[in-house]
Amino acid sequence: ESGTVLVIGSLNYDYILRTDHLPQRGETLTALSYQTCSGGKGANQAVQCAKLGLQTFMAGAVGNDAMGDFLLENLAEYGVDTGSIKTEPVTSGFAMANAAGKGNVFATIVEGANGTVLPRDIDRLDPLFARKPLVILQLEIPAETVEYAVTRAKRCSCPVLLNTAPAAALRKETLAACDFLVMNEVEAQFYCGVSSITPENAGQHIRNISAEYGNTCVFTLGAGGAVLCSEGGEPAFFPAFETEAVETTGAGDSFIGGMAYGLLSGLSGEEMMSLASCCSGLTIRKTGGQPAMPELTDVLPLLEVYRRQRSGK
Ligand code: RIB
Ligand code: NA
Repeated sequence: ESGTVLVIGSLNYDYILRTDHLPQRGETLTALSYQTCSGGKGANQAVQCAKLGLQTFMAGAVGNDAMGDFLLENLAEYGVDTGSIKTEPVTSGFAMANAAGKGNVFATIVEGANGTVLPRDIDRLDPLFARKPLVILQLEIPAETVEYAVTRAKRCSCPVLLNTAPAAALRKETLAACDFLVMNEVEAQFYCGVSSITPENAGQHIRNISAEYGNTCVFTLGAGGAVLCSEGGEPAFFPAFETEAVETTGAGDSFIGGMAYGLLSGLSGEEMMSLASCCSGLTIRKTGGQPAMPELTDVLPLLEVYRRQRSGK
């Protein structure tokens, strides 16, 4: 029996422009290639969960435009239940991402319909909360909705994983109510109040933050790997899966889908982090986020490769 996930979050239509450098002021740069695909951190995480075989529900909003139709259809094709995604008379969320050189993505998003996801939409999710899914949230929908959803989910005894992306001020109680906090280095700087998080100082900071909020935290450091720390525990470091990076869109989202699989399949922390690292490693090998994300059968054979990479360090 596979576990159940409820992702409450954003859907964006991604325009990804590949260039060899970022345009300079006044420069008009011709892209080497481009790709449009469905994205948004919420939808990306839902797709990675579904691709790994988890029963996945998503709640959110799209606009009443062609992008919205595409986003809904696409998600359904990946097997995500879209019954709790509403359509609003505004533009769908979209993202313009410059993928410059190998692996570097510079993205700007337009909130669009994602901004219309309000606490009253969360009230409609009670029948889903009653199934006690792992509830996964990010911060591309209004922060007040996220705070409300965390409270609601915890009241229904659901485990909650919050990916604090992009970083936004939240009440301390909200952060403390989450079972898992996952952040990249930029977000970790924000929540730790420091100007730089590096593989060298990450252990110290993650220990502080998991003690402060009393939960399990993960820092994802891109090519610097990831760190896991539970309250009162010692930080454990996991190198990034060694592979050739083509384009990193969705790598962090893929990592979270991998974590969700690990949590719901009863994997140890080490196994969960290894699987999540392999998921992102595969996602950065191809362009786009969702299209690049691996299925379970793609990931499992890599665990042994990753184990060898790790022990060689
Ligand atoms: O995390 C990657 C995602 O961030 C992209 O799909 C883009 O839509 C932005 O939301
Ligand atoms: Na990618």
